[in-house]
Amino acid sequence: MDQVLTASAPSLPPSDTALGAPTAMRAPVATLQMRSILAGIGGYLPERIVTNDELAATLDTSDAWIQERTGIRQRHIAGPHETCAFMATEAARIALADAGAVPADVDVIILATATPDQAFPATALRVQAALGCGGYGFDLSAACSGFVYALSMADSLIRSGAVRGALVIGAEVYSRILDWTDRGTCVLFGDGAGAVFLRAGPGSGSADDQGILSTHLHAQGSQGDILFVDGAVGRPDLSGVLKMQGREVFRHAVNRLSETVSEALAANGLAQDAVDWLVPHQANLRIIDGIGRKLGLPPERVVVTVDRHANTSAASIPLALAEAWHDKRIRRGQLVLMEALGGGLTWGSALVRM
Ligand code: UT7
Repeated sequence: MDQVLTASAPSLPPSDTALGAPTAMRAPVATLQMRSILAGIGGYLPERIVTNDELAATLDTSDAWIQERTGIRQRHIAGPHETCAFMATEAARIALADAGAVPADVDVIILATATPDQAFPATALRVQAALGCGGYGFDLSAACSGFVYALSMADSLIRSGAVRGALVIGAEVYSRILDWTDRGTCVLFGDGAGAVFLRAGPGSGSADDQGILSTHLHAQGSQGDILFVDGAVGRPDLSGVLKMQGREVFRHAVNRLSETVSEALAANGLAQDAVDWLVPHQANLRIIDGIGRKLGLPPERVVVTVDRHANTSAASIPLALAEAWHDKRIRRGQLVLMEALGGGLTWGSALVRM
């Protein structure tokens, strides 16, 4: 059975008993809900672009196959200086500037990645040093669901009052963990980083609030062998490359993501026509189109970057968000639904009013 790790639908105000004072003396409790506002968003893509035709020059594949099965036309591939930490830092700088925030406003950095530069220290702390932030930070491993997981963790910290400013980053260098002779996987992925700066803000606990309205996370470890990296630090006996049973993952993605978007809407008492934008994990255009249709969203309300970025794992949602935010498609007040599924299996959603 699936394990629900977090379900943070709008929480109820504290009960009279919890406050421990006579009802007559109490202030109204309807305004006690803290929210995580997406104050700024940024993205970074490596300079080098590799087209399908370039891959087809050395691999038994074709631009036609890749486009038809995935929607991918090209991907960005990191150069030697474009490390995970470098790309994450560049994306974070843009997110902070977009929010009008400074490094001193950052209380925590949560960086989702499956491709850190080192086993430790955490890539988040390389970013902390580069930006000159205080506070604390850590990396989070949830493969392609990493950004949604990190967003959920940061939201919990903000709503609990533990922090007031959080940098949430998804950064990946998948080009390092691909078997470039395996046409079934190497054509699918790209490198990049995306970041959001979350700032604590007031809310009433209603779905009209600005900020993160809910996150829902799931995992099913029993499916760990359909998408994994065969390797670890200090294991030269293993290949260290990504392996995937594509059709199986596809089947899980369609089913699980459909469930999770319904779950997010139901938890907030919202109908599907309330959603202004779907910002999905960018793995395959056929999966994205399927979820968009389920929500009854016209294609122009679904943010698609998979054609140009390919699958950048934990970076794909914040990169897509950054693109649609900075080109002013997504605006303040609009309702954005994010969803992802990845290795683990892990999956989940975040519903945000911008
Ligand atoms: O981000 C984490 C989540 N990941 C995903 O959601 C990925 C989910 N899976 C997928 O997107 C799709 O399953 C793939 C794009 C990976 C594959 O598409 P498919 O339609 O499921 O193809 P398939 O794996 O069933 O392969 C069909 C055929 C096979 O040939 P035969 O056995 O029918 O002769 C493959 O060998 O296509 C062949 N093939 C290719 N042909 C040309 C596989 N990769 C390639 C390729 N170029 N790159």
